[in-house]
Amino acid sequence: MQIKEILTQTPVQQEVTVKGWVRTKRGQAAVTFIAINDGSTIHNIQAVVEGNTINEETLKLVTTGACVAITGKLIASVGSGQAVEVQAEKIEVYGTADETFPMQPKRHSMEFLREKAHLRFRTNTFGAVFRIRHALAFAIHKYFNDKGFFYLHTPIITASDAEGAGEMFHVTTLDIKNPPKTETGDIDYKEDFFGRETSLTVSGQLEGELGALALSKIYTFGPTFRAENSNTTRHLAEFWMIEPEVAFYELEDNMTLAEDFVQNVIQYALENCADDLAFLEKRLLEEEKNKPQNERSPMSLIEKLRFVVDNQFERLTYTEAIDILLKSKAHKEKKFQYPVEWGIDLQSEHERYLVEKHFKKPVILTNYPREIKAFYMKQDADGKTVRAMDVLFPGIGEIIGGSQREDDYEKLVTRVKEVGIDPENIWWYLETRKFGSAPHAGFGLGFERLVLFVTGMTNIRDVIAFPRTPKSAEF
Ligand code: 4AD
Ligand code: MG
Repeated sequence: MQIKEILTQTPVQQEVTVKGWVRTKRGQAAVTFIAINDGSTIHNIQAVVEGNTINEETLKLVTTGACVAITGKLIASVGSGQAVEVQAEKIEVYGTADETFPMQPKRHSMEFLREKAHLRFRTNTFGAVFRIRHALAFAIHKYFNDKGFFYLHTPIITASDAEGAGEMFHVTTLDIKNPPKTETGDIDYKEDFFGRETSLTVSGQLEGELGALALSKIYTFGPTFRAENSNTTRHLAEFWMIEPEVAFYELEDNMTLAEDFVQNVIQYALENCADDLAFLEKRLLEEEKNKPQNERSPMSLIEKLRFVVDNQFERLTYTEAIDILLKSKAHKEKKFQYPVEWGIDLQSEHERYLVEKHFKKPVILTNYPREIKAFYMKQDADGKTVRAMDVLFPGIGEIIGGSQREDDYEKLVTRVKEVGIDPENIWWYLETRKFGSAPHAGFGLGFERLVLFVTGMTNIRDVIAFPRTPKSAEF
């Protein structure tokens, strides 16, 4: 039985065996209290060793970090911290841990724990984060399954740059010290494994669209890779993205799906991760005590999650957002680091102003200038904007990016050429606009950004097990 289950049992002196890692050991010769955690829950179970039921040599090996199996009777606890405890009769030490074990029971900095990513799962914080991450992943699959979407596995190795930003990691088996060359001196990718130049995907969207234009409703949920040199608290070089794509959806439907979807999965976490969220909420409160009053968040973690679930997101166009920013005190007093004018790619400071200061709730911005968005977005009649949508969240900024897709063959081919993509390279994508084209739309949710929001953690490196960022790929 796992600790999570044992803790819910009615104690009738039944024999149980608890297997897990020792968090703390305290007490004197007469009674020793051992707190054990097996990761199934944030809560530890307490084992009590009385007198000399366990020989001294064994008890000495029971230290913080050691892995043990403790057998004994489950009894009602006399202490206040827990309902039940184990009256230890037998202890088997699976693995010892001496005093150099880094996860000693005290507060460690997140930076320190990142360097010990192989052991940080054994802290309360990371246990909570990864249980919530699991619950959110499960809720996502459940949401789409319940709504009749099919989970499509799109390739990780690809020959096309879906976002057209050129931020891809190459995949090759060529000898990089001595690659084969063409007559003109370029690398001869015909000799490479796939007979062409390939990379790790930045998005499963293009292939997702092919699926949606037959299965009607699909979603992807897989790893994506971006070789952008962004050393921020919100960027990873390897992250997980969820990309639904729906035939017969227009931009409005897409927004409604995005809103319902994130609200639903956050609601799932509220219902199923109450203990872990309560722990993280307390943690965040303590962390914020060190901040000046005006930098503390007005809502607690759980209040913030409830607020997002219960309130409609604000919908407005990019052009309306620029107007708000231009009229803002922050702009007039030159508080923005980056200039504001129609046509700019909104910076995180602008997004956060709209969400945190102006509307004080999640915002969906639509109809961005075509020049700053990807080639596949449906062009508006004005010739200036496209049917894009970004969902912006407090503390996070962009959490979702999506659009209605260009379904007109001629317009799409013209745009593809304009942005410098060889139509030959994505002939298969373009062909879907020739055979039974249909209005369709979709979006991408950055999974780690969602986990970041729900857990209240402040750095994206702390919500993925083994983060990949510029100059860092340990573990
Ligand atoms: O806005 P993006 O680039 O959109 C796409 O990739 C589209 N193909 C999605 C679609 O329409 N199917 O990325 C989508 C989301 C962002 O809103 C953000 O949450 C996340 O992916 N994201 C990142 N998360 C972590 N690290 C990075 N470097 C990220 N880049 C994007
Ligand atoms: Mg985006």
